[in-house]
Parts: sequence; C-alpha cells; structure tokens
Amino acid sequence: MTGFEKDTRPPSGGGRGGGHDPFDQRLADGTLVAARYRVVRLIGAGAVGEVYEAHDETIGEAVALKTLRQGVDDTVSIERFRREIQLARKVTHRNVCRVFDVGHHPLPDGKPLVFITMELLRGETLADRIDARGRCGTDEALPLARQMAEGLEAAHAVGVIHRDFKPGNLMLVDEPAGTRVVITDFGLARTYALDEAAITVTGEAVGTPLYMAPEQVVTGKTPITRATDVYALGNVLYEMVTGQLPFKGSSVTVMAIKRFREAVPSPRLVVPDLDVRWERAILRCLEREPSGRFQSAAEVIAALTADAPPPDAPAAGNAARGFFRRTRSRK
Ligand SMILES: Nc1ncnc2c1ncn2[C@@H]1O[C@H](COP(=O)(O)OP(=O)(O)OP(=O)(O)O)[C@@H](O)[C@H]1O
Ligand SMILES: [Mg+2]
Repeated sequence: MTGFEKDTRPPSGGGRGGGHDPFDQRLADGTLVAARYRVVRLIGAGAVGEVYEAHDETIGEAVALKTLRQGVDDTVSIERFRREIQLARKVTHRNVCRVFDVGHHPLPDGKPLVFITMELLRGETLADRIDARGRCGTDEALPLARQMAEGLEAAHAVGVIHRDFKPGNLMLVDEPAGTRVVITDFGLARTYALDEAAITVTGEAVGTPLYMAPEQVVTGKTPITRATDVYALGNVLYEMVTGQLPFKGSSVTVMAIKRFREAVPSPRLVVPDLDVRWERAILRCLEREPSGRFQSAAEVIAALTADAPPPDAPAAGNAARGFFRRTRSRK
C-alpha cells in the first residue's frame, strides 16, 4: 500500500510494541504447547506476553498463540481470564480478530503458561506502518477508519469495550479486495484491569496510556463506556493523518497529565490543509468529557463523510490534493 509519508513521525513515546527482545522467547520453535499447538516462530512481543505463529495439530491449521507473561497464574485468575475471553468471543466480525481457545501449558518451573489462540493475521500493525511510512492522506485513511469503526460497532453492540484500542492492536492484512483492518486484543485490557496485581508489568500500565481516554488514566470516577473507545479512535485517526500523537512530552506520565490540563492541539497545526471535517471529528472524539464526544464509532464516520463541507472549509482539502504527494519532513 502506498500513501503513507515517511519521516514525518517523531520517535514514539514507547510502548508501541512490534519489536521484541530475543530473551522474550519463552517457547522455542518446535515446542508442542498443551499437546496441541506446535510453535512455528515468534512473531512479536508486547507488554503482556509474546505472540507466536503456531500450527494447530488437531485442526491442521495455522493460528496465532499469545502467551500472558504474568497476572493469571492461579486457577481463579485463569477462570476469570477465560470468562473475559468468552465475552470477546461473542464478537464475530471481519474487522475483529477471532479468538479460538484459552489454555495453559506447564513451564519447567512448574508455573502454568496461560495462552490464547486466535486467528493468524498475516500482515503488519498500523503502528509498524506509521513507523515505516509516516502519515497518510485522508483518502487512504478513510477506508481504514471505516473498518475500525465497524469492528468497534460490532463489539459495542454486544457490550464489549476494547479499552486498549491503538495502532499496535490494529493489523493491516492485504487482501485481493484491499487492505483489511483487524482489531486485536479485545477483552485483554479488561482482564488485566480487573487484576490489581497485573496492572503493572514493567512499571507501566498494561495497555498503552498514550492512547487511553482521561477516564482510564484516572480511574474510579467516570465509567468506561464505548465513548472511551471513541476517544482512542480519535487518537488513532490523529496519528494516521499527522504521523504523531496530539500530546508530546518527555514521558508517558507527562503526556497523560497534559490530557487534563491542556486543550487538544488541532491536527491542522501539523497538517494545515487537513480536511476540516477530519479536524472537527478528531477533536470531538478527543473531548475530555465522554458526554462531549461522539457516542458511537459510526457517528465518527458519518462526520468524516458528511456531504456538505462546513462553511470555513479550505478551498482544497488534504484528500483533494492526492495522497501520493510528499510533504517536507517536519524533523
Ligand atoms: N492475531 C495475530 N496474528 C498475527 N500477528 C499478531 C496477531 N496479534 C498480534 N500480532 C503481532 O504480535 C505483535 C505483538 O502483539 P502484542 O499484542 O503482544 O503486543 P502489542 O499489541 O504491540 O502491545 P500490547 O502488549 O500493549 O498489546 C504485534 O505487534 C503484531 O505484530
Ligand atoms: Mg496487542
């Protein structure tokens, strides 16, 4: 796919995932996990564990196997984790990664390694895409945004909130009909949030606070609703079309605090010719109070594609210029 502009994105604030440390590989290639899944290779690692390609010897198909590093190492936690995954399994949609199974595998130290198996998605994450190619124009971002919204809608319809919606959890799979966006890790953030002991793995909150809504950063006051995912969607749209996140800072904490203290800077400060519909929709997603945001992901897409351009729309929008155009680097 073309259209992402390289070198327009500053170094990430961390926690984006995608890369992995070789020491993270706890399951050697060829290991037979839970007498059923043969490890083919390590794909990547994130905050909560590793993701492997594996071969399901029973069904004879390739699957993705995600291990969980800590937090679910007793029977009660495993059972709770299983319930959360059952909830996520209610969502069947082409833009949501299918989850198959939850299991555990004994490690040499006697502790169970808890894992889930899911649809194997052959592609790259949106995080990797943005890192490699930078921002893209709205005409390329729109079909991706639409699929993200459709996946979120399907989950919200059955009462499932993602809670960790971010580019690292969005896989881009090239298919004959075009790029398919698949949302991964539904239910995982909730599982961890339920377990106080598991909230920090490496001193950071599980999930990526960079994308979290204010009500997730300071928990307890405001309920988590689908407007929480709408906020994260706004962040992802912002990053797709500008190549950067709205708030910059020396640390994740500084960026999180800015969300409470400062107004969200307009994406047009970064991309002056951005379609004003995108600017307005993104800023509305990022309203501090959930009630000020769009109340559904579908409303976001409706706003992005509204017919009548607002009165103060620029003469030529971002999309109208063509997305192969390369702008100068902001570095
Ligand atoms: N279903 C899948 N099929 C194929 N590859 C996947 C699948 N799910 C995740 N991956 C790959 O595995 C990598 C690690 O995923 P993981 O969820 O562990 O980390 P993350 O999403 O980057 O961070 P976090 O731990 O915060 O979720 C991803 O970057 C992606 O490349
Ligand atoms: Mg993930």
